[in-house]
Amino acid sequence: MDTLDCSSSILEYRVHKYFRPLFRKIQQNDRQCGEKGRHRANPSTLQIALADVRERFAQAQLQYSNQNAHILPLMQSNDPGIHPPLDAEIGAFLHLIHSVLLPEVQLESLNPEDPIVVHFTPCPWQLLGTGNYAAVFCHPEHPDFVVKVYAPGREGFEEEVRVYALLEQHPAFSRCFYAEQGFLILLRLYGTTMYDCLHLGKAIPKQVITDIDRALEYARFKGLRPHDIHGHNVMVKNGRGTIVDVSDFLKQEDCSTWDDLKTAYYWIYRPFLLHLPWGVPRWCLTAVRKGYRYYKKIL
Ligand SMILES: Nc1ncnc2c1ncn2[C@@H]1O[C@H](COP(=O)(O)OP(=O)(O)O)[C@@H](O)[C@H]1O
Ligand SMILES: [Mg+2]
Repeated sequence: MDTLDCSSSILEYRVHKYFRPLFRKIQQNDRQCGEKGRHRANPSTLQIALADVRERFAQAQLQYSNQNAHILPLMQSNDPGIHPPLDAEIGAFLHLIHSVLLPEVQLESLNPEDPIVVHFTPCPWQLLGTGNYAAVFCHPEHPDFVVKVYAPGREGFEEEVRVYALLEQHPAFSRCFYAEQGFLILLRLYGTTMYDCLHLGKAIPKQVITDIDRALEYARFKGLRPHDIHGHNVMVKNGRGTIVDVSDFLKQEDCSTWDDLKTAYYWIYRPFLLHLPWGVPRWCLTAVRKGYRYYKKIL
């Protein structure tokens, strides 16, 4: 975080709505410096940016703890530029979730270290994927949204809602439009996960790595600690990368998964796997995943 160059990040992320107040503060600060005849003795751009992130983090926490109903206040934000109003389409999607999906879907978490198991998905809902916390479904009538349903007994829902509130909008992340106890309505990200690209033999260009690096830098700038970025959580579409899972970004411990994955990308994938005419079998990918996890445990 300390090494983040804020001025270049500001241009890069182009989140003008968010940064406008920051620009104003910097200008004000510079003007005051000029008036008082001091030469830039006031806090640096980076310090102001960090203070702003902390303030927004505290506000998000307060907003979260103040709410007393089980419906989380993401959609009631006063900033229309950041969270759009709950429109009719999300309302219709929500209705389908309550009337069909939730009463009928059957999910189970067999082992916290393995993806949850979906025993039944009601038609026409489709299962897009599963992770260690939740299953993600889409509906053919609502192509822009997905619903992420947490398995009974799995923690992490509140944290994920908070992370999305802090992330606001960025092209490499999904967005949370609505959250209610146990599920979130998210923007659908299209593409193939990095893991599936390896399995299907689809090329993963360097631009994907650059996109994810920038997205993680942005998340750090927002006061988060990116965590658990592995092949299932990165989506590739038209040569660009997006991150589908931010549920662990509030965890405080360090996580080297993305750095390790990048090392494997440059030392194994690019010289060897990229040139194979076929994909890597699933059993092989699973063995590498389990071996990596074991190695990290004993380290
Ligand atoms: N916004 C999304 N758009 C499309 N697919 C998604 C989205 N979010 C998750 N998925 C799919 O669902 C899978 C599991 O979601 P994920 O958020 O990783 O769950 P968990 O937090 O349990 O690990 C992902 O690997 C991905 O295939
Ligand atoms: Mg995941």
